[in-house]
Amino acid sequence: MIVSPSLLAADFTCLNKEIDMINHSEADWLHLDIMDGVFVPNISFGFSVLDAIAPICTKPLDVHLMIVEPEKFTNRLAKLGASIMNVHYEACTHLHRVIQQIHDAGMKAAVTLNPSTPVCVLEDIIKDVDMVLLMTVNPGFGGQQFIEHSLDKVRMLKEMIERTGSHALIEVDGGVNARTAPLLAQAGVDVMVAGSYVFGAENPEERIKELKNLTV
Ligand code: DX5
Ligand code: ZN
Repeated sequence: MIVSPSLLAADFTCLNKEIDMINHSEADWLHLDIMDGVFVPNISFGFSVLDAIAPICTKPLDVHLMIVEPEKFTNRLAKLGASIMNVHYEACTHLHRVIQQIHDAGMKAAVTLNPSTPVCVLEDIIKDVDMVLLMTVNPGFGGQQFIEHSLDKVRMLKEMIERTGSHALIEVDGGVNARTAPLLAQAGVDVMVAGSYVFGAENPEERIKELKNLTV
């Protein structure tokens, strides 16, 4: 399993220490949640934090933009060294163009779906994206309860990927914990984002290892 701990649940008074933990852990990526208070009813952190983290984090940055007009920030993210740019389907009128722009800037392109957006809307873009991020809670906050219907969505997406010959990975975000992680792995998930389950633990590295060892 590819594991992408979400910094949203970290202790912001000691980010240096938290990044150090990630660097030494078995985490594959670091998931960074950007919010604008418009697309989602919350604001997290922005470029001043990303710029500070990028040079000290040794793991690829998996940036999740919960903002309107995410394409405005493509070049800025590429410049700071982000590996993956996740944009919401619901925030992009011209999604195909945005995906192209992300690729042209040298990053992997991922499209994110809100819980109420059906998987079938991806039918005409699935072969162009590197990853699909399925929100398994409503975006905007950490520590929410997992939406059970997400398991069906993972299975539907898996079927679409196999049928079309797409190489997209399936990532899930929200409510990943000891109960839901094995169910998600069984449904066909490739990448797990985990915020509170990792950073809220006494031993975050152990939690990362536990998720890492889940087999698809
Ligand atoms: C929520 C964010 C998530 C969040 C997940 O909008 O996209 O990445 O950090 O938090 P947990 O794992 O605590 O549900
Ligand atoms: Zn996220």
